[in-house]
Amino acid sequence: MSSPAAAELHQMAAIGRLLTGIVHEINSPLGSIFSNNEVIRRSLDMLLPLLADPSPESLQKARRVAETCRDLAAVDRIACERIRSVIRGLKSFSRLDSGEPREVDLNENLRDTLKLTQAEFRKRIAVETDLGELPPVECYPQMLNQVFLNLLINASQAIEGEGCIRVGTRLEDGMVRVSIADTGRGMTPEQQAKAFNAGFTTKPLGEGAGLGLSIAREIVEEKHGGSIHFESELGQGTTFHIRIPVRHPSGSVRT
Ligand SMILES: Nc1ncnc2c1ncn2[C@@H]1O[C@H](COP(=O)(O)OP(=O)(O)OP(=O)(O)O)[C@@H](O)[C@H]1O
Ligand SMILES: [Mg+2]
Repeated sequence: MSSPAAAELHQMAAIGRLLTGIVHEINSPLGSIFSNNEVIRRSLDMLLPLLADPSPESLQKARRVAETCRDLAAVDRIACERIRSVIRGLKSFSRLDSGEPREVDLNENLRDTLKLTQAEFRKRIAVETDLGELPPVECYPQMLNQVFLNLLINASQAIEGEGCIRVGTRLEDGMVRVSIADTGRGMTPEQQAKAFNAGFTTKPLGEGAGLGLSIAREIVEEKHGGSIHFESELGQGTTFHIRIPVRHPSGSVRT
């Protein structure tokens, strides 16, 4: 697995698979904004004649209508923020990495990637994050997003029914360690030995191409001078550890 075009296709397919969840994540707050807007519009229609009548009862009613509008506007704001955060997640995937590494907040990248994946599995998988304080990391952020996406999708596919994914970051000796742990089915020793091989998959046709981990290893090791390892126990779960140097080995960095 070495062609950038193949890596890009793999990423597009992964996002495509998340699309149903992403659409839902945008659609449900949008639906609530629409229906709130209808209520606000009708409330304002009621408000005008109430304000024209100076009786205390009318003013009292007018106050209640105004309060309803204010509460609905607050709900709309939350709905808009939910939509904005999904769009942000998508944007951070659509940006292409330019020639040189950039300084980024990797915790932010992880949060963005989680937003997209959680849209798909929020109902059945709890996500716990323990993101430590990190310095800006010199890297190709979109490529690392792809690594996080591949590992999070693998973790969710390994969990049958309900489970938990834990994502943690730490600064350790000039390296950032990102850990992604799942309570999924784990791997047999034979599967562990082959997990990084391009084309190795245990998933049904159409669900897995067997490329996610080989792409992740290439991005982490060859593009960043880092390392990727995992430990796995059958029936218990799997934890991946990625280490990325804070300073990119190429030395040429845009800030
Ligand atoms: N978190 C995990 N838990 C259990 N098994 C895993 C996990 N991650 C990877 N594997 C195993 O390693 C295999 C290879 O993973 P990889 O991501 O490279 O390919 P894939 O997920 O099968 O397909 P693709 O990523 O191309 O959609 C998987 O089919 C699965 O058997
Ligand atoms: Mg995969």
